[in-house]
Amino acid sequence: MNTKKNDYILPEMNRERNRSLRSTAAACSRFVMDDAAVNFGRGKKYYIRTYGCQANVRDGETIAGILELMGFENTESTSEADVLIFNTCAIRQAAEDRVFGEIGSLKSVKAKHPGQVICLCGCMAQEEVVVNKIISSYPQVDLVFGTHNLWRLPELLMKVMKEGKRTIEVLSQEGDLIEELPVRRSAGAKGFVHIMYGCDKFCTYCIVPYTRGRERSRRREDILAEIRSLREEGRKEAVLLGQNVNAYGKDLGMEDGFTSLLESAAETGIERIRFYTSHPRDYSATTIDAMRKYPNIMKSLHLPVQSGSDEILKRMNRGYTADSYRKLYDDMRAKIPEITFTTDLIVGFPGETDEQFQATLDLVDYCQFDLAYSFVYSPRAGTPAARMEDSIPAEVKKERLQILNDRLSAIAATRNAAYLGRKVRVLCEGPSKKNAAVYSGYSEENKLVNFTGPEGLEDRIVDVEITETHSFSLDGKAV
Ligand code: 5AD
Ligand code: SF4
Repeated sequence: MNTKKNDYILPEMNRERNRSLRSTAAACSRFVMDDAAVNFGRGKKYYIRTYGCQANVRDGETIAGILELMGFENTESTSEADVLIFNTCAIRQAAEDRVFGEIGSLKSVKAKHPGQVICLCGCMAQEEVVVNKIISSYPQVDLVFGTHNLWRLPELLMKVMKEGKRTIEVLSQEGDLIEELPVRRSAGAKGFVHIMYGCDKFCTYCIVPYTRGRERSRRREDILAEIRSLREEGRKEAVLLGQNVNAYGKDLGMEDGFTSLLESAAETGIERIRFYTSHPRDYSATTIDAMRKYPNIMKSLHLPVQSGSDEILKRMNRGYTADSYRKLYDDMRAKIPEITFTTDLIVGFPGETDEQFQATLDLVDYCQFDLAYSFVYSPRAGTPAARMEDSIPAEVKKERLQILNDRLSAIAATRNAAYLGRKVRVLCEGPSKKNAAVYSGYSEENKLVNFTGPEGLEDRIVDVEITETHSFSLDGKAV
């Protein structure tokens, strides 16, 4: 059992840190809604705000599904809502600061709405420092639950709403995989599918292995059934999710489990398949072959490299060198010349020297990424890197980020310029966020495309001719 204080069940990062890395299959159970919970929310409204990665978005869809099964109705208004859910991300400090700001500003909203319930869940809830801060300084938060017990929401929420008692239940052990959870998917033609949960890589800067627990793979049949149901709903793209998808199936005793799953996913006949996130250490050559073989597996790969310096990669515990990453990159390019490559990069890791930063720039020049997400290192309490000595001033880190971003956007502009005059196939998501008069969507290569065309193209795959290119998007017209 976890630590109990005032009936609270509190997170313990130490237990996650010291967990066994033995890969054994997690037990699997089916979600059943308690009779008392059905209709409990009738006539009441919920608001949900999700931060962070696509895995969190998918969890948010499950939370919304549970609440709707309880009878709650969705609202976009915080003042109208009876229940407010903050489904949070802990990857960097900035993400956490935003959530605390948001919850802080709700004190006055709640004062005008007696009985309103504020819940914090997701990755931040798994952190001791966060929960302690909530307990001491955020009395407006009524319910905290973690990433391992989403399915407990009906019971926890009923307890808070019936007894008016603040409840905290965060487990530091993963428990069973829960299947058949309800889902309220976001609008649009793509659907997210968890293939596994957790991460055992323990990169030294990263909080995820602590907040999401050990690697657990869902059963193949459950995943394939979810993809088929997306297809039956008329969705065109399945996005397979895991912190480290290449490790899929290891805990189930499968050899090369990810490639085999990917092939079966392609054989469901859904129009498009993508997957996030790959890890260079576990990448299997057979996955590239599958990408080449199946036309509905999109030829774009997000392969985070983090740094181009061997010394930094070692201190990050990434398990590969810059040269082995280049080799992997070369193999992919040789086998699938048209593949698009994206990555994640961290600058200002503790003690990063100018030369080590230069090695990252050199790798970026070599790989010519189509797009890269770049971050300044953010210390996360309880992770090994947060205890490493760091004498690099914040201004130097900011300067490095600027230099890196300038380089990345110049490369992205050159990569995109090659699309001028070409025809791409775009899954239309609807009107663009910036200009409602144009559509936007993603091409097979995962390029953001803004385009004009006749009415009624939403959720369809459209041929678009590219008429103008930018660093981070392409413009065109439907043909
Ligand atoms: N500081 C900065 N960036 C981080 N990431 C993960 N942890 C940190 C951190 N502590 C980045 C990595 C990862 C992406 C999802 O977020 O680049 O690939
Ligand atoms: Fe974090 Fe590394 Fe796991 Fe990715 S692979 S979630 S960066 S620990």
